[in-house]
Amino acid sequence: MLSPKSLIDRRIRSLFPILLYSILILAVARLVLDNLKSKQSHLSRLYGMSSGGRNRLPVIVLPEERIEEGCNVFEGRWVWDNVSYPFYEEESCAYLVKQTTCKKNGRSDSFYKNWRWQPHGCNLPRFDPLKLLHMLRDKRMMFIGDSLQRGQFESMICLVQSVIPEGKKSLQRIPPMKIFRVEEFNASIEYYWAPFIVESISDHATNHTVHKRMVMLDSIAKHGKHWQGVDILVFESYVWWMHNPFINATYGSPDKVREYNVTTAYRLALKTWANWLESNIQPLTQNVFFMSMSPTHLWSWEWKPGSDENCFNESYPIQEGSYWGTGSNLEIMKILHDSLQELKIDVTLLNITQLSEYRKDAHTSIYGERKGKLLTKEQRANPKSFADCIHWCLPGVPDTWNEILYAYLLNHQNFS
Ligand SMILES: *[C@@H]1O[C@H](CO)[C@@H](O)[C@H](O)[C@H]1NC(C)=O
Ligand SMILES: *[C@@H]1O[C@H](CO)[C@@H](O)[C@H](O)[C@H]1NC(C)=O
Ligand SMILES: *[C@@H]1O[C@H](CO)[C@@H](O)[C@H](O)[C@H]1NC(C)=O
Ligand SMILES: *[C@@H]1O[C@H](CO)[C@@H](O)[C@H](O)[C@H]1NC(C)=O
Ligand SMILES: *[C@@H]1O[C@H](CO)[C@@H](O)[C@H](O)[C@H]1NC(C)=O
Ligand SMILES: *[C@@H]1O[C@H](CO)[C@@H](O)[C@H](O)[C@H]1NC(C)=O
Ligand SMILES: *[C@@H]1O[C@H](CO)[C@@H](O)[C@H](O)[C@H]1NC(C)=O
Repeated sequence: MLSPKSLIDRRIRSLFPILLYSILILAVARLVLDNLKSKQSHLSRLYGMSSGGRNRLPVIVLPEERIEEGCNVFEGRWVWDNVSYPFYEEESCAYLVKQTTCKKNGRSDSFYKNWRWQPHGCNLPRFDPLKLLHMLRDKRMMFIGDSLQRGQFESMICLVQSVIPEGKKSLQRIPPMKIFRVEEFNASIEYYWAPFIVESISDHATNHTVHKRMVMLDSIAKHGKHWQGVDILVFESYVWWMHNPFINATYGSPDKVREYNVTTAYRLALKTWANWLESNIQPLTQNVFFMSMSPTHLWSWEWKPGSDENCFNESYPIQEGSYWGTGSNLEIMKILHDSLQELKIDVTLLNITQLSEYRKDAHTSIYGERKGKLLTKEQRANPKSFADCIHWCLPGVPDTWNEILYAYLLNHQNFS
């Protein structure tokens, strides 16, 4: 017969393991919860959503994320890197138009996605989409130019969109604009169709042809009013000028159309653009970039003497020596150089021509569009006439342009 005391003892003793377990379970649960909480606050801190989402954290730029002084990031080489590249896949980015989705359009080789641009003198910072969104908080970034610039715009959206939850991002088409909005950051990445930067008869977002061009060399106001106040402006204009050595244009008198030598016309257009910048840009709060010409690979004899093709069936970049195709007009480059020198405000030139020259493998070739439609089987069988050696597949070369743009934006952080 047990005494009441020992009975209680035994009860306590038998309870003990249960108690122990409960404590353990509680402790584990607590641990998991705490962990979750701290993870969540870590995430929301990163993502900037905590308590109303209006807490502004300064963007911290690590020393290794700065472009080393004196390093020219545009001089370098392409290195094989199928571990870090591509940053995204066609299938994971719903915003790509069919002009750039080479794989979906039938391209079977995929090496073109796996090259990393390695500057000779330093490293590019790793593209961090969240960091970019923090830099873009309450800001607008706009890409202005032709379809090549649209490719860069789409690349940028694809680079950032994966870190934004569904329902918190949207793409709106308001021709000639496209606007990608990131709700939690009150940020937007935008595109504005203006193939000549200045006004022209090709300004309709879809109804335009390079065969009929007429440019108003001294008119920009219709476009400019949409660019006003935009925090980061990224301009580009080249290939539409180059269709023919002469171009119909007006200058001075709006009714007097005459033919201009393209180099003269380009210079006058950049002058009009420069005047607009000088009277509309606040250099302390607005950042202006200009993308140098995107090269074309229309004549394979330029990199493969004796051949008579184009960029079709090219699977590797040019990796030895320096290569510069005749499609990248040095006279136009000089005009661009001089125009930027004369400008009273700072415009950062992203001189991506040379690095893109090496990428004869990365164009859409027969896996793109012609007049808004994918190539037919018959057209594909005739790459000499139908390969597109102007536009680029995505993921691809425009991602690198954006990595460089990102690096410059990071670099500008401490100055603003
Ligand atoms: C990456 O490239 C290396 C070297 O060419 C190759 O051996 C490897 O299989 C590739 N990995 C993937 C995941 O494609
Ligand atoms: C949202 O961003 C725009 C600029 O894109 C800015 O004018 C506006 O003040 C921002 N809104 C808030 C609530 O900060
Ligand atoms: C396209 O523009 C031209 C004039 O620039 C016009 O004649 C034609 O009707 C337009 N086509 C469509 C489909 O709107
Ligand atoms: C300029 O316009 C005229 C009249 O439409 C045309 O005949 C000529 O070919 C055009 N010139 C160029 C360089 O496009
Ligand atoms: C256009 O003008 C430049 C000099 O301004 C000259 O070098 C070039 O040959 C001219 N092009 C044509 C097609 O006349
Ligand atoms: C593409 O190039 C490879 C060699 O690099 C060649 O064997 C093949 O026949 C070419 N394909 C076409 C369709 O020209
Ligand atoms: C861009 O770089 C190339 C060399 O890659 C150079 O020839 C050209 O002058 C540069 N352009 C400008 C505007 O500085």
